[in-house]
Amino acid sequence: MNNSLPKLLVTGGNSQLACALRSHPAATVSTLVSCTKEQLDITHTPSIKRAIKRYQPDIIINTAAYTAVDKAEKNQKQAMQVNDIGAKNLALICEDHHILLIHFSTDYVFDGSQAHAYQEIDSTNPINVYGLSKWLGECAIRQHASQHIILRISGLFSEYGNNFLKTILHLAHKKNELQIVYDQITCPTYAGDVATVLFHMMKKLDHFGTYHYCNTPSTSWYDFAIAIMKEARKYSVLPLKKIHSITSAQYAALANRPTCSNLNCDKIYHDYGIAQSSWQQHVTHVVRKLFL
Ligand SMILES: NC(=O)c1ccc[n+]([C@@H]2O[C@H](COP(=O)([O-])OP(=O)(O)OC[C@H]3O[C@@H](n4cnc5c(N)ncnc54)[C@H](OP(=O)(O)O)[C@@H]3O)[C@@H](O)[C@H]2O)c1
Repeated sequence: MNNSLPKLLVTGGNSQLACALRSHPAATVSTLVSCTKEQLDITHTPSIKRAIKRYQPDIIINTAAYTAVDKAEKNQKQAMQVNDIGAKNLALICEDHHILLIHFSTDYVFDGSQAHAYQEIDSTNPINVYGLSKWLGECAIRQHASQHIILRISGLFSEYGNNFLKTILHLAHKKNELQIVYDQITCPTYAGDVATVLFHMMKKLDHFGTYHYCNTPSTSWYDFAIAIMKEARKYSVLPLKKIHSITSAQYAALANRPTCSNLNCDKIYHDYGIAQSSWQQHVTHVVRKLFL
């Protein structure tokens, strides 16, 4: 990498994270280019090579993924193709071209049975197809790309794309009552904050490997929905009057999900000085943005 600002190529250009990276104050048109699936398909090697030849990046930030957790149970092949083979393709090409690969993974690589938050060194044991495909993608990157950062994050929300916060707001306009699970604990994490974390890391880049980052504190999906609605009611009188708490068994989603897969974020604090921010302030910001 030369002394000027590194050139960044972002895959999965319509993802929540790509949108957050593009609209971040630290992103400039001359240093960051993002490609949609049509422009750069990570499952198709010639398509990756074409984009690299055209943009000559120092760093590839891979936000492209198959993220439909329940659908992945039925579309196993597609999920593996993108999350495992796609990650491997990028790793091999990055190695050939001496490009740093920054990749995102998930708390769903863990089974959620551990009593305390997961560290990067803890054993993984995915309990759904999505988690397995992301884990295999991580392994491929560790095996093939000597220069990489894998950032595991959880419960992503933002003003962009599809996510839990936007689904709750959408349903709040249409339904009087909702049922949300209370026995799955997560750390909701704002995509804009992940973008800030990434730009901070890229200024320093003196440690590589696997890192965890999420917002704090941990909460159930039920309590997260309550917090979202509390903000939303500041802006509008909505049809949604009652949210009922139910168990995962009652909800019966296609994919199993970890009961509690909180990520321990000590390592990123130790190596990069990055502290976790609270999701509540980000919910306030996103809901405000969506209503005003
Ligand atoms: N969402 C979460 O709660 C969450 C939690 C933990 C970790 N993560 C990880 O964080 C990263 C970003 O998640 P996100 O929620 O921002 O993603 P997202 O909004 O679901 O977007 C994923 C993007 O990947 C694109 N894509 C799919 N297949 C592709 C391919 N073969 N080549 C290029 N692009 C392809 C999709 O394009 P199309 O829409 O055109 O198919 C979509 O724009 C992913 O690695 C995800 O696994 C997400």
